[in-house]
Amino acid sequence: MVPDELETLEVHGDTAVGWDEHTPINETVDDEGKPFPGRPGFGVPDPRAPAARVYDHPDVEKLRAHLRANNGIRGLEICDPDEVERAARIFRRDGFVVVRDLLDAEHLELFRQGSARALRQLLEVPAPGKRKYVTESGRLPHRYSYGTASASRQMLHEEEWAAMVDLPTTSPILAEIFGSKDYLVLGAGGDLCLPGAVEYQHLHVDVGESNQVSAGRLQAAKDIGIEIQTVEGSDEPDLATRRRIVDFCPAVVTINFAMCDLTWENGPIRQIIGSHAWQMRPPPPADEPEWMRLSTLVGAPAGAGVIRDNRAWHGATPNLSREIRSLPNVEYGAPWLGSKHKQTMPHDIWETLTPHGKHLCRHIKADPGVWPPGAGVMHPLGGERRAAAKRMGGTGERRHGSPGG
Ligand SMILES: [Fe+2]
Repeated sequence: MVPDELETLEVHGDTAVGWDEHTPINETVDDEGKPFPGRPGFGVPDPRAPAARVYDHPDVEKLRAHLRANNGIRGLEICDPDEVERAARIFRRDGFVVVRDLLDAEHLELFRQGSARALRQLLEVPAPGKRKYVTESGRLPHRYSYGTASASRQMLHEEEWAAMVDLPTTSPILAEIFGSKDYLVLGAGGDLCLPGAVEYQHLHVDVGESNQVSAGRLQAAKDIGIEIQTVEGSDEPDLATRRRIVDFCPAVVTINFAMCDLTWENGPIRQIIGSHAWQMRPPPPADEPEWMRLSTLVGAPAGAGVIRDNRAWHGATPNLSREIRSLPNVEYGAPWLGSKHKQTMPHDIWETLTPHGKHLCRHIKADPGVWPPGAGVMHPLGGERRAAAKRMGGTGERRHGSPGG
């Protein structure tokens, strides 16, 4: 715990937070904070990581020079918020799209404040040994998720996150993508990395593809203009049509909002173009080609958002700067996902929303007077979060596959 640096913590601009040389490279901890639990798939190590978490270590300098010269998708397209159709077209083609100015100055400031406050709660937990911070269970060092670090698994009890669910910039693009204004808010969270997060997070998908075409999904396909061709002598969509339906009608879409400019140095998220429609698994870190490691969203400015299909391969990258890279998010679901979702938005917060915002949050709002179990408790360790949620009347169960991760 380093109280001075936390008092002035901000999620943009230079900071003294991070770069803890006493947190070993690739160290992960279990739900109780025990280091290197040795479970397969538990915080996947980066075999190419620098040997030390030190700003001017030769390995770090070498990686920094490489990223300065090469990091970022060449010709990354960045849309304006009023380019609704273009944004949807790029989203369907690539599995994500970057749109600038999704947040105006006021909303950006509000979200920065909320993000900084939540992060402070995580970093002020006393750390073992000489370490500055407790690492989040199941993640690489200096990386946290606002969603999974919240004992309710979501952040919709916080006014800053709730204020982002229906923006004049985002709602038209989401309606275009889903082909309807009846899409859902599923949750909100986001991820961040501190300076000194020198390891690459493994490429992963947040949500798997069921390859099922329900009546609702078929309708969504018609709503976005997919022409339905059927197998001769049957009502069944033919293979090419089924593929288009699956490719272009995602179940979950997340908007991550940039709190600072994403630069070659501060851990821009990487997205693999077109991978939302692939049926294979992403490569493990040892097999990941260099072009994928460099396929990052360098150039997305503060206030922009990356609207991403949660099936697309993505991962966090090294933050070798002095700036915290925070990407809080809101997670949306297709109208055909049904009504059974965890109710993590308190009724009082729901009442503050716009009429459309209330409609979007219809399935995740709690009843009046009911506080969502775990909401308000932020802790890096899974064991502590489960205990808090249980104390507050929840089951404290783990929920896997959270889009927030
Ligand atoms: Fe993820």
